[in-house]
Amino acid sequence: MNTTFLKACRGEQTSHVPVWFMRQAGRYLPDYQRVRSKLNFLELCKNPALCTEVTLQPVDIFHFDAAILFSDILVPMEAMGLTLEFHEGHGPVFPEPVQSQQAAEALRIPDPAEDTPFVLETIRLLRRELKVPLIGFAGAPFTLATYVIEGGSSRNFYATKSMMFQRPELYRLILDKITACTSSYLIAQAKAGAQALQLFDSWAGALAPCDYERFALPYVQSILADLRKHTDIPLIYFANHGATLLRHTSGLDADVLGIDWRIPLADAIRQVGPHAVQGNLDPLALFLPKTELEARIAAMLEDGKAARGYIFNLGHGVIPETDPDQVKIAVEAVHRFSSRSKQS
Ligand code: CP3
Repeated sequence: MNTTFLKACRGEQTSHVPVWFMRQAGRYLPDYQRVRSKLNFLELCKNPALCTEVTLQPVDIFHFDAAILFSDILVPMEAMGLTLEFHEGHGPVFPEPVQSQQAAEALRIPDPAEDTPFVLETIRLLRRELKVPLIGFAGAPFTLATYVIEGGSSRNFYATKSMMFQRPELYRLILDKITACTSSYLIAQAKAGAQALQLFDSWAGALAPCDYERFALPYVQSILADLRKHTDIPLIYFANHGATLLRHTSGLDADVLGIDWRIPLADAIRQVGPHAVQGNLDPLALFLPKTELEARIAAMLEDGKAARGYIFNLGHGVIPETDPDQVKIAVEAVHRFSSRSKQS
């Protein structure tokens, strides 16, 4: 069992710097495309055998030090009673966005074993196969709320922010329910065998820090506190565009903070307090020529030495246009450079 990832999360010494990539399973991989061509995305998310297969693909091909459960942050929102669709080329759509008191009251708090059994079954299947730790995940409440309130992706979050400012009780009712759903969903993942949990706050950076503090952070804190009562596995919080929020996020009770690429790693490390860090190569840096990509990785590994624990990752997900050979180059470089630097 390769436990470098779990050790780094806890700030313990490792033989090399562990590496995994957000969205390491997905459309940039021909093997994923082959599986996906037979069914739509949500059908895939509900098929444990195929989710297991696509989770394992990048781990087997590139020798990542951790696997991330194949699913989507919006899967539990469907279990709350919402209609969820993924439109080819457009991403997720909720045809009936949650914008009224009535719609908010109708949201149900799912029972993970009853309503998303396929996720827990995938975790159990994966644990039988994997030789690296398995990361479970969920969306953070603010990010999930933007999707269900806007009805999909958004440019300026008009529906969410206007609700936040003009109907704060309604906003808080929705967030409370999403938070309860997310806590029990993650606890169920841990019980099923997930060995670390990551909260994705993809849209946190759209908030002014004062609004993040009031309308997003407390819900993250509440989930982390709940998780600490039920499990001792490492907890990771990733806020995309989060550099402006580090003053707030550095106080969170997470083991690891994920860092996006818009801040130099060394600067982030100075601000993260007692946390290990994970990140933060620009996903588009995978389009650099090999020598430049390797030089950038070497520099990051050097900076990462100052962290309490360091996990190499991208600053956001792999994009579909990425050449798998470049991912191979990057993972090999992390392993080669970090084991070499430990010996010297
Ligand atoms: O390898 C992995 O990282 C595991 C699987 C995973 C997916 N989505 C699969 C997926 C994870 C961890 C996610 C998280 C997710 N989903 C986030 C948070 C991370 C981030 O990117 O900020 C968000 C915001 C979503 C919502 C979502 N799902 C969007 C906006 C889209 C459409 C855009 C896109 O990238 O396609 C999805 C679809 C999605 N989720 C795909 C995959 C592999 C593509 C679906 C396909 O095959 O067509």
